[in-house]
Amino acid sequence: MSLLELDDVKVHFPVRKGVLFNRTVGHVYAVDGVSLKVEAGQTYGLVGESGCGKTTLGRGVLRLVDITDGEVVFDGTDLAKLPEEEMRRYRRRLQMVFQDPLGSLNPRQNIESILSEGMAAHGIGKDQDERRERIKEILAKVGLPTNALSRYPHEFSGGQRQRIGIARALVLEPDVIICDEPVSALDVSVQAQVINLLEELQESMGLTYLVIAHDLAVVRHISDVIGVMYLGSLVEEAPSDALYAGPKHPYTKALMSAVPVPDPEVEDRRERILLQGDLPSPANPPAGCRFHTRCPWAQDRCAAERPVLTDVGDGHKVACHFAAEIEAGTLELTRPTGIEAVTETKAVAAEGPDADKVAIPAQSSGDQPAEKKAEKQEQDSAEADALAKADALAKADAPVEADAPAKAEAPAGADEAAEADALAKTDDVPPADDADAGKADADDADAPESDASGAESAKTG
Ligand SMILES: Nc1ncnc2c1ncn2[C@@H]1O[C@H](COP(=O)(O)OP(=O)(O)OP(=O)(O)O)[C@@H](O)[C@H]1O
Ligand code: SF4
Ligand SMILES: [Mg+2]
Repeated sequence: MSLLELDDVKVHFPVRKGVLFNRTVGHVYAVDGVSLKVEAGQTYGLVGESGCGKTTLGRGVLRLVDITDGEVVFDGTDLAKLPEEEMRRYRRRLQMVFQDPLGSLNPRQNIESILSEGMAAHGIGKDQDERRERIKEILAKVGLPTNALSRYPHEFSGGQRQRIGIARALVLEPDVIICDEPVSALDVSVQAQVINLLEELQESMGLTYLVIAHDLAVVRHISDVIGVMYLGSLVEEAPSDALYAGPKHPYTKALMSAVPVPDPEVEDRRERILLQGDLPSPANPPAGCRFHTRCPWAQDRCAAERPVLTDVGDGHKVACHFAAEIEAGTLELTRPTGIEAVTETKAVAAEGPDADKVAIPAQSSGDQPAEKKAEKQEQDSAEADALAKADALAKADAPVEADAPAKAEAPAGADEAAEADALAKTDDVPPADDADAGKADADDADAPESDASGAESAKTG
């Protein structure tokens, strides 16, 4: 049995309307039937464009949102059905690293306080001295100096802050770490360093990862298996090399074709598939194959019948009625693809704006607008707070509060940050041992080396 097995997991958010009678008028089908297995000591890379449900799936595994249906079997136990009280015992073993390292670290706590909070809650280390020693070891492992202990998150660069985020997960000695877009907020120059660090830690500590990214390049080298997600479900899954060597689903082909090749000759000749239109709303997903509204090969059957993820050999799974015909080149295109599509779009644009016809390179989904980034910062902070709260609850024998269900019920755009923040500040949370943490090493006067921290630090003051 795999360490982590998801079986037909669904996370549907109710959409409510009305002030007096808060009626459910529909659902956002954020995750709609995902099955996957993550083997111990391996990395599962989950990719897909913005809004396809990657984060919701990760949060579902940690029960930060309610699972509508399906099983999340971790080390033989179905977490989806565990009462919250029992779930708390499992929380230490499943940790999360967030996209926005700054947003997920409490700016008012120094690093020792941030890292020891969860340890104390889970009873790791008999006192603060022992915890501090353990934290020093972990800081060394993630490549941060000991003098980081008494410093505050804003004093570090983006890359260093992500190392702190990783250290926060590691001090709890987890089995599985869910890394949600762990490098997408970082400078390209430090992205590789953080990915390499994750790989080194996996080797030396035997960790199991679920790495979420919108960028195929990020998951390529770190992943053993890659799952491609589209509008709430997996459309393709394969061992990393097999997926790159021969993507079979039209959506994966489009994602892959958006990645430039360094060789100019190959780059000039290679096939490009530019998808038309935006990702449909998960509140109103298309019937049949969810990709049929954008698929260049869509046939009549595609609008009527939803394809099932099927193993086509050697663990390569694809959810497409016509994968074999597309591979054999025997299926007629029903929409333009490649360069012709671009030319056609330019011609249309010259005649007048027509939003439906704008060709969008699949890769462009990764470029998130400023509001989207701000929204993410809030969400990361809320999730970190929720995890801190869960950690604290793991120790305190306090009655369970319905933090996760409350969030699951929240309509899109609800201020989850404020909600989780309020919960985190209840008396159940042991206060951070700041006085003790303040006694960190005397050598902390030296500023930790910074890799381009200026701009980000200035932003947050
Ligand atoms: N609490 C919620 N209530 C209602 N809808 C939600 C909630 N959380 C997420 N959604 C919706 O579910 C869908 C999937 O969101 P999710 O954040 O999981 O996508 P994602 O793949 O992680 O995207 P990104 O790459 O932008 O992070 C989106 O349409 C989002 O608006
Ligand atoms: S099932 Fe049809 S619409 Fe869906 S990916 Fe395959 S060809 Fe395209
Ligand atoms: Mg996300």
